[in-house]
Amino acid sequence: MLTAYDFPSAYLLDQSATDIVLVGDSLAMTVLGQENTLSVTMDEMIYHTKAVSRACKRALVVGDMPFGSYQGGINQAIQSGIRFLKEGQCAAVKLEGGKQRASVIAAMVEAEIPVMAHIGLTPQSMHRFGGFKVQGKSVDAAMAILEDAFAVQEAGAFAVVLESIPVSVAAEITPRLRIPTIGIGAGVHCDGQVLVWHDFLGLHENRVPRFVKQYANLYPEMLNAANQYCQEVQEGKFPDVQHGYCMPDQDLFLERVEEKYGNYSAHPSHEGKLEESKV
Ligand code: KIV
Repeated sequence: MLTAYDFPSAYLLDQSATDIVLVGDSLAMTVLGQENTLSVTMDEMIYHTKAVSRACKRALVVGDMPFGSYQGGINQAIQSGIRFLKEGQCAAVKLEGGKQRASVIAAMVEAEIPVMAHIGLTPQSMHRFGGFKVQGKSVDAAMAILEDAFAVQEAGAFAVVLESIPVSVAAEITPRLRIPTIGIGAGVHCDGQVLVWHDFLGLHENRVPRFVKQYANLYPEMLNAANQYCQEVQEGKFPDVQHGYCMPDQDLFLERVEEKYGNYSAHPSHEGKLEESKV
């Protein structure tokens, strides 16, 4: 599973071997430049989910329920889930929380909304956790995460994301569940893995968390491309002859213009370009 937030990246993932495209609420940080995920709205999530769903003909698209769209209770959660499937055109939603969300998950599944659960470090609970901290490091905390995993499975979730928990905790959960686990910062023993698009492609210059592997480092390449473009525009090297359109009666046109409006002196870097464009 990988995240995507727009048509072109989702299209690319749909062409790749990626099984699931998650329109994560990480959108708030990666695309909208927010400090955390709490502020992203339903309307913003739906807008991006629509674009991703349009691109995916094969991969499963999962829309991430933003903070405040399901914590208010079962009715709110069902209404939000319906919007994701109806307007966002995705086939499933993801929401954060274990035992305390089991009744919401069960009601959503009953209302025909497939749910992927998300336990361990749940970023929407950052104020309760006191930041983005690895969860399940003590024995009691790890046992509570196991209980969460069983609770979301029993509630009817079709898969569960395990975020930022010790490798041994994910390794004990995964074989004990009937549903697949998808890890992020949870080690190799999960059934699947997920990474955030901007992290895995190196699309930003921020430091990435320990659990991220960058499969490309595109930020310097894109910066270099932007600088090269600016330099070539300033030096009159772009656009070149092959990037322009010619007109069959150019000489006649130039004559007419000169007759009517007089001569002009070309910018030094453009001199001779009109002649070349006739070839
Ligand atoms: O919002 C997101 O991108 C996520 C993944 C990190 C699982 O929830």
